Amino acid sequence: MPHHLEGKTAIVTGGGRGIGRGIALALAAQGAKVIVNDYGATVEGQGTDNMPASQVVEEIRKAGGTAEPNFADVSDHRAAEDLVRQAINTWGHLDILVNVAGILRERMIFNMTEEEWDAVIRVHLKGTYNTTHFASIHWRSDRRGGYRLINFTSTAGINGSAGQPNYAAAKAGLIGFTKSCANALARYGVTSNAIAPGAATRMTDRGLANQDATRSGAAPSARAGGSERDPENVAPIVVYLCSGEAENVSGRVIAASGYRIGLYSDMQMEREIFNDGPWDVDRLFELAPNTLFKGLTPPDGNRPMSASA
Ligand SMILES: NC(=O)c1ccc[n+]([C@@H]2O[C@H](COP(=O)([O-])OP(=O)(O)OC[C@H]3O[C@@H](n4cnc5c(N)ncnc54)[C@H](O)[C@@H]3O)[C@@H](O)[C@H]2O)c1
Repeated sequence: MPHHLEGKTAIVTGGGRGIGRGIALALAAQGAKVIVNDYGATVEGQGTDNMPASQVVEEIRKAGGTAEPNFADVSDHRAAEDLVRQAINTWGHLDILVNVAGILRERMIFNMTEEEWDAVIRVHLKGTYNTTHFASIHWRSDRRGGYRLINFTSTAGINGSAGQPNYAAAKAGLIGFTKSCANALARYGVTSNAIAPGAATRMTDRGLANQDATRSGAAPSARAGGSERDPENVAPIVVYLCSGEAENVSGRVIAASGYRIGLYSDMQMEREIFNDGPWDVDRLFELAPNTLFKGLTPPDGNRPMSASA
């Protein structure tokens, strides 16, 4: 079988565990040389551990692939610069950047502290900006083309998530970021897409539906290997998007959950009303309920805290 990514070099952030690990293994299996970045933090972003990234590098090498570890915190601007430089110094160039690293600090908006807000925005949003900023500087001067940027969003960012306003905001922000990079970097041969994944990992173990099982030592992620919820199932579409075949796909959000892969529509105007000049407030009160907002219902306030990651 041909290797779809022969000669390519890649960085996978958060590549030590869960979905990122699956992607690092799959890219390497397709011939890419991979920097496996992972800070080795807890789900909440605390502590550091070199083991996750080192183990995945070991796995790749044992399977005959090429990989190097990196233990940087992607939310550290200078460390992210060093991460990109590591790929360029080691292999001469960087073709693929997959930003997977992420953390959770779930809290209802009225309970959320400034620190909880900042920590989540910092890893997802600033972390993705950090690595992409330095990769894009390289792509703009390298000019080989065929570059790939893949960011990780979530249904939380698309639909909202009652108990994760920081996470949902970061993930929605990443859609705007991804589309902006698609627009700005097309001329340098970069495609930029976002994945909204679904898989059983330590992140989803924290969801309401899984909390009891996780507390009693039967975390669903521990039993996911080989099942539909195996985080490795997110990787095949990432391989495809990283290949030359996917040159026509950019600025899009792609769902990858279990054995299902989907393409989200872009957000479209649903209804519009027009006036010749500024709207008269009374006229708007008369018209809006029968046109613009006719038939709408608010979200169900009784819905439990979202269990999504
Ligand atoms: N699992 C799901 O169903 C799901 C759903 C929607 C979105 N996502 C997103 O997919 C991505 C992967 O999630 P996962 O479920 O595999 O979680 P995970 O916790 O298993 O993996 C995340 C990895 O990122 C690393 N990391 C965290 N902060 C870092 C930092 N500052 N620098 C470098 N590495 C860091 C962690 O050490 C961990 O290994 C995340 O962005 C997550 O928000 C996951």
